[in-house]
Amino acid sequence: MPREIITIQAGQCGNSIGSQFWQQLCQEHGISQDGNLEDFATEGGDRKDVFYYQSDDTRYIPRAILIDLEPRVLNSIQTGPYRNIYNPENFYVGKNGMGAANNWGDGYQSGEAVYEDVMEMIDREADGSDSLEGFMMLHSIAGGTGSGLGSFLLERLNDRFPKKIIQTYSVFPNTTNAPDVVVHPYNSILSMRRLTQNADSVVVLDNGALSHIAADRLHVQEPSFQQTNQLVATVMSASTTTLRYPGYMHNDLVSILASLIPTPRCHFLMTAYTPFTGDQVEQAKTVRKTTVLDVMRRLLQPKNRMVSTVPGKKSCYISILNVIQGEVDPTDVHKSLLRIRERKLATFIPWGPASIQVALTKRSPYMPMSHRVSGLMLANHTSIATLFKRILKQYDGMRKRNAFIEGYKKTAPFSENLDEFDEARQVVSDLVMEYEAAEDADYLNPDNGDKATSAETDRRMA
Ligand code: GTP
Repeated sequence: MPREIITIQAGQCGNSIGSQFWQQLCQEHGISQDGNLEDFATEGGDRKDVFYYQSDDTRYIPRAILIDLEPRVLNSIQTGPYRNIYNPENFYVGKNGMGAANNWGDGYQSGEAVYEDVMEMIDREADGSDSLEGFMMLHSIAGGTGSGLGSFLLERLNDRFPKKIIQTYSVFPNTTNAPDVVVHPYNSILSMRRLTQNADSVVVLDNGALSHIAADRLHVQEPSFQQTNQLVATVMSASTTTLRYPGYMHNDLVSILASLIPTPRCHFLMTAYTPFTGDQVEQAKTVRKTTVLDVMRRLLQPKNRMVSTVPGKKSCYISILNVIQGEVDPTDVHKSLLRIRERKLATFIPWGPASIQVALTKRSPYMPMSHRVSGLMLANHTSIATLFKRILKQYDGMRKRNAFIEGYKKTAPFSENLDEFDEARQVVSDLVMEYEAAEDADYLNPDNGDKATSAETDRRMA
């Protein structure tokens, strides 16, 4: 029985990365731009029904809901080459057509107005599934719609579907260069509260790291969103291959998350992928020899991570899941794991096993691949807290002066007071402390405040 996943895309960024993700999935499964199976797609063995259902005329339709408060990006999807794959009933554009002006409060308060229409779409998709496993939300946390409306939807999804898994792919702002949204620290902290409290797992994608990778790997100095989104789509597709080409393990979300998230609050994951290739860029097409060991070693290099962190002395992995695709002999995996241990290429938490899990998966037979082996790492690493700390610092700098606060005061969550800000800050600062505590050997010791047992996720994972 399929374990279906409904994808919810919110805001400009969420819909842009979503549209590349669906394009990639269609190509991998041999689904044409109209949703029909291509004549050459005869291999079988894949599970399309996790992400698609079939219409009466047997076309494949994504289980996707596309939401934005302004029409531009959704219009471009509805007039683009893949316009016919989506269910036209699953587009929601805000009634007044104005975005949320990069204001989390604006996006959040619009939640009540959109709630009924959007929930109807979600319920319809949920009712159309045999065995719904959960939701995947795609959004950025720095603007107004993906962050504010996204936060509202996360809360409501949690209430309405308490037993379903909620995973997000959350694009964090570039925190090292000049920001493109001045108030991103406010919006990010407010969203992170919901990501902490209402999601089971958050795959963090950081625009700063994505730009570096585009520059280093694809040799594009100032990458467009389309180019960084190509990286994101590759990562999203790789992280869902074990669901779409199932083997004997990791073939549903819960088993992937159970191996990665031993304690529920530390559920922010980073990714690395290698080798990246750029379709448009000549230098990036260079083919080199790829072996399992090469790939697993490269995945551990900080420069390949899609999150810019500053590992401290005690930073360590809580867990790793490597998804390896291609021509792989399982004994090579075993040898590579031994080599990684001998060379101490990865440091693990002192309170649990050094958990590197490896999933070998099939690759789409319909996509030309110049590399013998490619790999994705999904990792739970304590240094992710350094990204959160950086955002907290930027937040504190602005909040001290109450810079740009007037726009927020005009919205419902802040009409009476600014408590929402202070509560969100507290949640994020507790999260940072949780990751720091996870670097100590006595993390699980009950006398240590028993940080690891407040478990919202346990209930769903049970
Ligand atoms: P409003 O525009 O306020 O209604 O909200 P929104 O959610 O639509 O905003 P948006 O998604 O544009 O969020 C802004 C943040 O997302 C900024 O940090 C942008 O750099 C980033 N962003 C926007 N579009 C993309 C994209 O296509 N790819 C990536 N990687 N980041 C994006």
